[in-house]
Amino acid sequence: MIYLDNSATSFPKPKTVKIAVNEVFSKYGANPGRSGHSFSLTSAIKVNEVRENVADFFNVSKPEKVIFTSGCTEAINLAILGSVQEGGHVICTCNEHNSVLRPLFELKSKGLIDVTVVEPEDERGITVNDIKGHIKPNTYMICVNHISNVDGARAQIDEIGEFCAEHCIYFLVDCAQSAGHVNIDMQKQNIDFLAIAPHKGLYALQGVGVLCCSAKTKLLPIKFGGTGTDSINVRQPLEPPEAFESGTIATPAIISLGAGLSFVKEHFKEIEKRLEDLTTYINYELRNTNGVKVYTHPDNAYGVISFNIKDMPSTDVANVLDTKYKICARSGLHCAPLKHKHMGTTYQGSVRLSLSYYTTFTEVSKTIMAIKEIAKN
Ligand code: ALA
Repeated sequence: MIYLDNSATSFPKPKTVKIAVNEVFSKYGANPGRSGHSFSLTSAIKVNEVRENVADFFNVSKPEKVIFTSGCTEAINLAILGSVQEGGHVICTCNEHNSVLRPLFELKSKGLIDVTVVEPEDERGITVNDIKGHIKPNTYMICVNHISNVDGARAQIDEIGEFCAEHCIYFLVDCAQSAGHVNIDMQKQNIDFLAIAPHKGLYALQGVGVLCCSAKTKLLPIKFGGTGTDSINVRQPLEPPEAFESGTIATPAIISLGAGLSFVKEHFKEIEKRLEDLTTYINYELRNTNGVKVYTHPDNAYGVISFNIKDMPSTDVANVLDTKYKICARSGLHCAPLKHKHMGTTYQGSVRLSLSYYTTFTEVSKTIMAIKEIAKN
């Protein structure tokens, strides 16, 4: 099998990730932060080490501002719902995933906020100029997808972050696709809410997400329950991180994130280069194939590439790739409906190839050959 669906979840995972998870099950897999026995304390210490490592990797102001969630979707929901300002206005982009659009439009449908969706003028990605003209006196948040899970378009978050800081507007960046693939520095880039999907570019298990918050954010919990702190109080505490982590956290997945993060740190330059080289190669070859339309801009070489073959439904193409050529690709709308509206592919969807550190030149060459053959026949 050739696995090119790493934007859905990376596979395989590094050996060090498997070893770390195995240790949780064989050595200390207790519930962290609840009981006082040594297994529980060991779990808590290990989880906090990962929190510190995440803070260090993304330059978060302090480890307490790193909140573990069930996934990137919950991280984004927490940022949007936990910071809602009634009567306010939020700007997002057409590149957003439904994990951003749906909470925003839920709030809008309840009459709590107003939402503006902006489109890029330059197909390489969203720039600050796409956003500037849309702010209103009541704009309190700008949500930007960093690297699109559909076509790899990259937003200029440095400039947008500066703009948000100047105007005292919260800056939420959905880094589901970018974390582990490109440099992210929360403080330098003026990010207030940074949402991460560790099971993609950080090679962790599924079941954990991360929301990193800046020092200035004011966030309220969106779920309530045990925190292991202030247990006499029937009201939810408000101190991060526990206030936002009610329920037993996913220790094995969090530990896998620690190991995945170390792997990414060690191989960061290689990952960047491999994704760039292989994406550029696929893009070039597919652009030069009759009947293939590539949606990914050649400058956006971040391991995600979207295309269609003539007017074939994207699901048919993905099915042929799977059954005839043993290649795993994703098709359809990739949970980003407004992006497809923008690309004009609402009915056809698109076929997506997404790469990882483990993707080889040979696998990519075979995939290109398979696509050329489908397009020819
Ligand atoms: N959001 C994930 C994807 O793009 C699951 O496939």
